[in-house]
Amino acid sequence: MTAHEATSDAEARVRADDRAHVFHSWSAQAHIDPLPVAGGLGAEFWDYQGNRYLDFSSQLVNLNLGHQQPDLVAAIQEQAGKLATIQPSVANDVRGELARLIVGVAGEPFTKVFFTNGGADANENAVRMARLATGKRKVLAAYRSYHGNTTTAMSMTGDPRRWANEPGDPSVVHFFGPYAYRSAFHASDEAEEGARALEHLEQTIILEGASTIGAIVLETIVGTNGVLIPPPGYLAGVRALCDKYNIVFIADEVMVGFGRVGEWFAFQAHEVVPDLITFAKGINSGYVPLGGVVISDRIASTFDDRAFPGGLTYSGHPLACAAGVATFEVFERDGILAHVRDLGERVVRPVLEGWLETHPSVGEIRGTGLFWAVELVRDRTTREPLVPYNASGADAAPMTALAAAAKRGGVWPFIHFNRMHVAPPLVITEDELRGGLDALDTALEVADHAALANPGLRSKS
Ligand SMILES: Cc1ncc(COP(=O)(O)O)c(C=O)c1O
Repeated sequence: MTAHEATSDAEARVRADDRAHVFHSWSAQAHIDPLPVAGGLGAEFWDYQGNRYLDFSSQLVNLNLGHQQPDLVAAIQEQAGKLATIQPSVANDVRGELARLIVGVAGEPFTKVFFTNGGADANENAVRMARLATGKRKVLAAYRSYHGNTTTAMSMTGDPRRWANEPGDPSVVHFFGPYAYRSAFHASDEAEEGARALEHLEQTIILEGASTIGAIVLETIVGTNGVLIPPPGYLAGVRALCDKYNIVFIADEVMVGFGRVGEWFAFQAHEVVPDLITFAKGINSGYVPLGGVVISDRIASTFDDRAFPGGLTYSGHPLACAAGVATFEVFERDGILAHVRDLGERVVRPVLEGWLETHPSVGEIRGTGLFWAVELVRDRTTREPLVPYNASGADAAPMTALAAAAKRGGVWPFIHFNRMHVAPPLVITEDELRGGLDALDTALEVADHAALANPGLRSKS
């Protein structure tokens, strides 16, 4: 058998096992054709045919330190040789060290960490803490959000993934967060959007009954649903409302925490401090599943003398925590946060701003650090999205074609509804980043064609 035949054989086996036996997330099983992936390194991964993809979605925006980061791999190997697992009820060195490191970068008033297996259960447990700390059950969460795939997290989710899972937790109520480009408040600028969104949130609190609301849950920067950066003052306003009405402020930092926007936590750029922070993904780049809740002293202390009614077999798993501790070392040694801020402002922002000039389908670009959205429209005047909200099948064809064009150009894109996000691993080099952006620039011609085919397209500005 030649090397080529052996590779084809391996690929065929991977594909056959997958199609026969792996039940995939969020999918009609007969309508998917998952790419057999042979390996990855840094910001790239490749298939069995030798096609290489620069990963502009960091897998599910979790692969912050890239594939096969040697320090993380070594930390897991070393920990596996020392103590591969241990139950949560004992004290363990890497678990404690990681909790100390997390609390250290979260700053005051955070003192404790409850470890989970991922983001959904982090949100689930944060809500549980808020309910017990306040004695109030209702939770307010935003439309255009994703919080995870367990009952309350799914109920809090403000996107179509919730619909087929309803009814879920009946005590979740949704409100509109700020989104100036498609304002729910007829606002004409960011400041007005932020102010009106706060007014709406306070009205929601009053009408739902402040005495019934235990928590407000917000993605600090909305991730999958649009890279929506809150206007200056919005999060501080949420904080003030939480203080006024005795509501726990939960910041979901599952996607944006640990460097995605050049901060340890995204809220740190907004001069605001939540009561609970949920995290996962970037804490160890997903090398071993890990998430958690960072708990302020005020809430942690409410469980000093009564039991917290929650736990997980793998809470604070040593392999996951060892990779987390190594993540902190790499961030410090390699100046990851500064690298992210630099690439975001010096490279990504000007390139994307250029697209506003050259691509008629680009309606808006927004982002920070290595977390950007390119919002594609049929018509810049009406802002009609290039594909409808929640489009699938033929309705989504222009975005599917854009994704295919990006892949032909060697970039694995992040596509959601009418948006393409740019969220590469934080270790990406400037050359790789510029090369990937060039490939997306070319791919966007596909979106321009779809937009120009629309008779309603009136203007390039
Ligand atoms: C903001 C946010 N919260 C929660 C989750 C759920 O995390 P997990 O899939 O680890 O449960 C995600 C996942 O994408 C997320 O982006």
